[in-house]
Amino acid sequence: MCGIFGIVTKQEEELGKLLTAAGHRLSYRGYDSVGIATINEKGEIDLRKDAGKVSAVAEKYHFEEMTGKRGILQLRWATFGEPSLVNSQPHLDSEGLMVGAHNGNVVNNTQLRQEFINEGMTVRSSNDGESCVHAVERFINQGDSMLDAIRKAYNILEGDYAFVIGKASEDRLYAFKKGSGLVAGIGEDFTCISSDLPSILPLTREIVFLNDGEIVEFSANEVKLFRVLDGVEVTRPSETVIETMEVAQKGGYEHFMLKEIHEQPKVAEELLHLYDNLSDMHQILQKLSDARNIYFIGCGTSYHACISGAVFFNRLAKKAVFPVAAPQFIAQYGQSISKEDVGIFVSQSGETKDVLNAVEIAKNQGMKTICLVNVVGTTLTKITDHWLPLGCGYEISVPATKTFTNQLVAFLYLAYRLAGIELDDIRKLPAAMETVIQQSEVMIPEIIPFVNPWQDLYSLGYGLTYPIALEGALKLKEITYAHCEGMLSTEFKHGPLAAVTKNYPVLFSTVKEDIPIIISGINEVTCRGGFAIAIGPDDNRLNSNANHLIVCDFPQPEIASILQTIPLQLLSYHMAVARGFDPDFPRNLSKTLTVD
Ligand code: G6P
Repeated sequence: MCGIFGIVTKQEEELGKLLTAAGHRLSYRGYDSVGIATINEKGEIDLRKDAGKVSAVAEKYHFEEMTGKRGILQLRWATFGEPSLVNSQPHLDSEGLMVGAHNGNVVNNTQLRQEFINEGMTVRSSNDGESCVHAVERFINQGDSMLDAIRKAYNILEGDYAFVIGKASEDRLYAFKKGSGLVAGIGEDFTCISSDLPSILPLTREIVFLNDGEIVEFSANEVKLFRVLDGVEVTRPSETVIETMEVAQKGGYEHFMLKEIHEQPKVAEELLHLYDNLSDMHQILQKLSDARNIYFIGCGTSYHACISGAVFFNRLAKKAVFPVAAPQFIAQYGQSISKEDVGIFVSQSGETKDVLNAVEIAKNQGMKTICLVNVVGTTLTKITDHWLPLGCGYEISVPATKTFTNQLVAFLYLAYRLAGIELDDIRKLPAAMETVIQQSEVMIPEIIPFVNPWQDLYSLGYGLTYPIALEGALKLKEITYAHCEGMLSTEFKHGPLAAVTKNYPVLFSTVKEDIPIIISGINEVTCRGGFAIAIGPDDNRLNSNANHLIVCDFPQPEIASILQTIPLQLLSYHMAVARGFDPDFPRNLSKTLTVD
């Protein structure tokens, strides 16, 4: 997803280097183009940009030479216009007197672009970031001040986005957010803004959190906020953020994904401690216990966690939960929810637009809202009644791993507490995860030769392992680019079985209690020549029926299902590496999806 970063410094600085580093920090969001604009003391704009990776574009255009007192960086993930130099951001206004960039989507871009052309402006690209700049230009041409022009631009640019812009002749930059994340930082002799908090933290910990409907004007020594509505200044003190960024290093692992897989035991343990002492926990449990209906809402990996959570709540707390993909929540339940209901909105990033849309509907209907979010200070944590942290630290790799398992740990913890079950078993989970990681690192490479030649496979599960199989399939799709369909094992015979030919690979995840039903599925595949790989307990029935068994077990079935995630994560990781793909930054994907 696009990212923006802007900085204003007191002295002329080597901003090209600083902004390139910020670009690297934002790159985990996924992008296809990169650009930097600097403005020097004389008011000259230096703009360099192109499609490509941060390192390649920086090297080609010598970003390291760029100096100035103001700078804007943008990473672009294409929506309006193909990835190309001209569509890359930042963009200039017609005369080259202003420069700006955005992230997100301006949905009336096509219409506005035509209006700006009709008004005689020089429109160079089809990108909506350029329309943001021309929108300000329109009102500057009508005689408005920068602040008033931006206020008016805010009102005509429809969609969800964040935007930063500067005028060459001034000494400051301006930015605002409208549905997308944006935070400001205050350092010694500089101020800055960014699409996310982690990219600012290496520079400063003094953070001003911004709201929609506010414009931030930042100069070398201060950050001022103004209301879009009437231009009145808003006072908001900065907050000191104590998180550290040191974890955002690979720490000896070849990829972030592998490091993050190995971090799962540690973050699970930390989450349990965190929840034992969470001040909101009692209130959250009370609300869940009193709820008429409970909904778990998320997208992608987080949606799979919602399904697991629903199974845990049913089995342990005897509570029915509706797990639902966020956009479908509106269609399916938007009119039926009420203030007696509780929704847990699940999102690693806390910025997924589909989830934010669902929260808006939920709040309009008076529903009680809780979020389960990893990234501190994000929109979702601010617009819901309660925030359940995920406590994973930074997850850099685009495919979610440790945030998924901690989502499951969070749901399991809530289910245990609601059911009044002693937490002894769940406290054994981190050590069990460590064992499964070690065992899987030995066993997974053995099955790669059977799976890797295929561009098409299935990942099946049943009951507790159904969502785990879906998540395994998503991991394989995301980073190996193979088509892997996740499915309930019992549904496989209703059509997909037709895909099975000689050695066709099918993965079966199971906990002990479901072995009999999983074996039926395995046999349907093996008797047609397919290659069945079971992931489950060291059990004779699995051993003798499947072609291969990856052992993964725990006496308590809910915990066993969480552990099953790990071999599937490692399978997708090792397959991606064997195929020569970078698992951390898969093509076309983005870690933070702030568009519909
Ligand atoms: C994107 C990512 C997925 C992720 C989904 C939901 O599509 O590529 O990996 O699961 O967004 O993200 P969230 O931050 O809301 O959990």
